[in-house]
Amino acid sequence: MSIFTSKHILLCVTGSIAAYKAADLASKLTQAGALVDVILTPAAEKFVTPLTFQSVTGRKAFTDADLWGGEAHVLHVGLGQAADLLAVAPATASTIAKLAHGIADNLVTIAALAARCPTLIAPAMDVGMFEHPATQENVHTLCGRGVYFAGPDEGRMASGLVGRGRFVEPAELLGHIRLTLGFGGKLAGKKIVVTAGGTQEPLDPVRVLTNKSSGRQGYAIAQAALDAGGTVVLVAAPTALIPPVGARLVPVRTAEEMKEAVLAESAGAEALVMAAAVADFRPKKTAADKLKKRAGIPPVDLEAAPDVLLSVKGMKSNRPRVVVGFAAESRDLLENAAAKLKSKTLDLIAANDISAPDAGFSVDTNRVSLLFANGDRESLPLMSKAEVAEVIIDRLSGLLEKN
Ligand SMILES: Cc1cc2nc3c(=O)[nH]c(=O)nc-3n(C[C@H](O)[C@H](O)[C@H](O)COP(=O)(O)O)c2cc1C
Repeated sequence: MSIFTSKHILLCVTGSIAAYKAADLASKLTQAGALVDVILTPAAEKFVTPLTFQSVTGRKAFTDADLWGGEAHVLHVGLGQAADLLAVAPATASTIAKLAHGIADNLVTIAALAARCPTLIAPAMDVGMFEHPATQENVHTLCGRGVYFAGPDEGRMASGLVGRGRFVEPAELLGHIRLTLGFGGKLAGKKIVVTAGGTQEPLDPVRVLTNKSSGRQGYAIAQAALDAGGTVVLVAAPTALIPPVGARLVPVRTAEEMKEAVLAESAGAEALVMAAAVADFRPKKTAADKLKKRAGIPPVDLEAAPDVLLSVKGMKSNRPRVVVGFAAESRDLLENAAAKLKSKTLDLIAANDISAPDAGFSVDTNRVSLLFANGDRESLPLMSKAEVAEVIIDRLSGLLEKN
């Protein structure tokens, strides 16, 4: 189940040229499982119609005509109180000013004042309007009240001006909304370090020894930890993936860099989840110049790469309270995973059989067995990597409660 499932999002659309992008956001939220109620200000109605939103959400979109229509009893209070999150997207300078000062003169601003849920604001305006001291003071006031701001981004605006004021793109805004929905979850206030991707060990300036890890399982774990409210650091070897909104990315390339970053980041962290595929071997020497074909096939001598989990085991102090590892095996899965659990003093290991075509590297699904330090075992059915990640984060939270 995704964090969006059955969540009530009150999407308030105001009179910005970016209002058309809110329809895409409403659609994305609905597809993710949220129940999206939309309110348009009178100015927003000049840009987009309620019908657009009704068509993508399957729910009624409200305007000021409904405020004075008297069909629903005290509509603004009902909408505000039903919401898990109120998102003003796009938010004009005018509406931001009204929210900062408690002005309630249309259905959006009245509902915002009546709501008791977290508020997210995604501003959209010209750079001059955003940088104006009046707007800056209003933003400051709202931030001080715990309102979460997504953007604005830098870039080119409809006016042709370039600067800060662009509406955050809907796909990224979805990540910000997801992040705010997770606030206060069971990992709130807890630092969780997650590693992902396959390390690259250089042979020369252009060639590397690497593996088939796509990073998807590690990124899904980072997302699940964010959904649970965790403060997430994602130590990632190169991947083609976009980091989840809210995760602090620490990019690394080699096993050595991964080790250094993990030791630095996991000191004092609550938990470390090592989902990265770290090289076991690396070329003994890295050629300073590109190896030339005409020089013939070069001999490649290998040496052991640093063992990140053993380095974590050897930490003198501030070791993470819970350490979770992964074992990707092509044979004797459970025996190998159990041996790794013990030798690296892990609290939990997720064992996945990479010989199966629907599990392991580069696919969206995984079939994982969980082995706990106390001897408990749990075999999970074939699941999406996002679902596997949710289970691992749930079990990790349980271990943090016990430890
Ligand atoms: C074509 C056009 C585009 C506008 N775009 C923006 C905008 O991107 N951001 C903004 O703050 N105001 C913008 N405005 C001005 C607002 O629509 C105006 O301040 C309005 O009163 C806002 O009302 P509302 O905040 O209740 O929706 C625009 C106005 C027009 C005519």
